[in-house]
Amino acid sequence: AGRVRIHHLAQAKERGEKFAMLTAYEQYTAQIFDEAGIEVLLVGDSAANNVYGHATSLPVTVDEMISLVRAVATSAKRALVVADLPFGSYEVSSEQAVATGVRFLKEGLAHAVKMEGGAYYADTVRAMVQAGVPVMAHIGFTPQSEHALGGYRVQGRGEDAERLIEDARALESAGAFCVLMEMVPAATAAAVDAALTVPTIGIGAGNATTGQVLVWQDMAGLRGGEGVRVAKFVKKYADLRTILLDAARAYREDVRSGQFPGPEHSF
Ligand code: KIV
Ligand code: NA
Repeated sequence: AGRVRIHHLAQAKERGEKFAMLTAYEQYTAQIFDEAGIEVLLVGDSAANNVYGHATSLPVTVDEMISLVRAVATSAKRALVVADLPFGSYEVSSEQAVATGVRFLKEGLAHAVKMEGGAYYADTVRAMVQAGVPVMAHIGFTPQSEHALGGYRVQGRGEDAERLIEDARALESAGAFCVLMEMVPAATAAAVDAALTVPTIGIGAGNATTGQVLVWQDMAGLRGGEGVRVAKFVKKYADLRTILLDAARAYREDVRSGQFPGPEHSF
């Protein structure tokens, strides 16, 4: 099968089909998820947390992101590769956003970018789309604004639902090819999806969106251990943390006991 393109995601919504997105930050996961048929790979600014070890997504830089995006885009043969615009790389002006978006396509080899924010950013999205940078919008809970929003909180409850629908409509009108919603009540996300022609993606947003996304280390159970809290919206499909922990312990034991390397590993 050929490359997944943004019109294929639009077709999925038209046909009542769904698609899957996972984050990826380097070669092997990009290859494996691509082989599994995951339609969209997101090089999320969650790399701040999941690659660089920060407590929030805010510190990651464009340069730190571009190396990861390039690795994923070079490794995935079929998936659509979307790069997250990190905090501070698009808010100042449309010019800044276009320049950052162009860098992600030109240097990172991404096929599209994702950007947090509502109707306020409609002009920014329009400028990027004009410049040839496809934009996926991200509304609802937007982690880059966690200090402004007062932590991880469900968005779009009650009267806020209407504002979320207006945000989504404005971003669609501005040319966003897809609208992602994070931590939004299922009924609100369904209303947003119904209000739009373009496909939607959900994370903690119920089952009515066209696509779903998870952070791969959550999906595969790599992140975990003592004191680590996994969000309610995560489904864990494997326990990679235990598998790697057991492997590392077994290797260490073999080294300490002199079992490894054996004659078969020696010259
Ligand atoms: O950075 C990220 O991983 C994301 C997804 C969780 C939507 O933005
Ligand atoms: Na993100």
